[in-house]
Amino acid sequence: MNTHFNRAVSSAPAKVILFGEHFVVYNNPAIVTAINKRIRVQAQVSDKSNINIRSGENSLSVPINSNDKYIMSLDNSSIALFPIFKCAKHVFKEKNISNLGVNLEIDSQIPHGEGLGSSAASCVSTVAALYSLFSDLDKNLIYETARIMEQNIHSNSSGVDCYVSTFGGIVNFEPDKGFRSIRPKKKFTLLVGTSGIKHSTGKVVSQVRQFREKNSTVFKDLSSKAEVICKRAISSMNEGDESELGNLLTENHKLLSLLGVSHPEIEKLIEISLDNGALGAKLTGAGKGGAVIALIPQDSSKEILAKIGSGPGKWMLVEFDYDGVILG
Ligand code: MEV
Repeated sequence: MNTHFNRAVSSAPAKVILFGEHFVVYNNPAIVTAINKRIRVQAQVSDKSNINIRSGENSLSVPINSNDKYIMSLDNSSIALFPIFKCAKHVFKEKNISNLGVNLEIDSQIPHGEGLGSSAASCVSTVAALYSLFSDLDKNLIYETARIMEQNIHSNSSGVDCYVSTFGGIVNFEPDKGFRSIRPKKKFTLLVGTSGIKHSTGKVVSQVRQFREKNSTVFKDLSSKAEVICKRAISSMNEGDESELGNLLTENHKLLSLLGVSHPEIEKLIEISLDNGALGAKLTGAGKGGAVIALIPQDSSKEILAKIGSGPGKWMLVEFDYDGVILG
């Protein structure tokens, strides 16, 4: 099969999990939103059957038929690009192309390894850029493929990160009902604070699996509390009740702490945000470092950001993203 174009560019948004991370891996609900920080991927077809990837300081240049073991035996910076290599190899194999290669340039606004979905967004954006060399954008195909590719990062992936990065918006995932959009009655204002402590989602997910195996009754109890919080959060979004939504964030965080996925630096960020006027705060994503989200009253967002911005962590005001993956 020939390509339609020699070059394609796509970008996909980061995400924050508002409610339900970890429990969602075990068929609990979760609420996730895309945010306005993106990863952009430029794909350029080359006539050498190599995959060349450049992302900031990291780069990888290998024959397209290289096996996974070989990539994993390279240095750490090459291993970081493994999921992107897998996406490129997968799409070229599926399209039956062995005589061409691709140069991929990755440009990211999403801090890596901090719970903001950089791995999912890089899979979504890479798959979108590569498929669009051959045909029009098909978001369902992009989601399905990126989700399988993300499982190279952690095999228990719930798929919520890839879904929201592909389709955008705020979504409620329920195992028996799938994904449904939430349109809150009023605009909520979120701050994201990153601790600078990187984690591996795969490792934290397997630590939680061990916790669940050893403490099945406690895990069940935490799961059912998390489920109730998700339900109440949907009602408070629909009713525009930001004070209740804030309380629910903090309640959800307490469950995650009991699950053992918080970190002293995360606790500091949460305390600082609550002491300075946030309505509620929690860690977001896998935890053990990474990022927190804080819900703040819209009319005092600048003052709160100024106050907490001088303390630990890096803080940013984020907007919800309703576009998901786009070309160009
Ligand atoms: C990671 O962003 C969210 C987790 O719930 C894992 C997953 O849903 O795949 C920790």
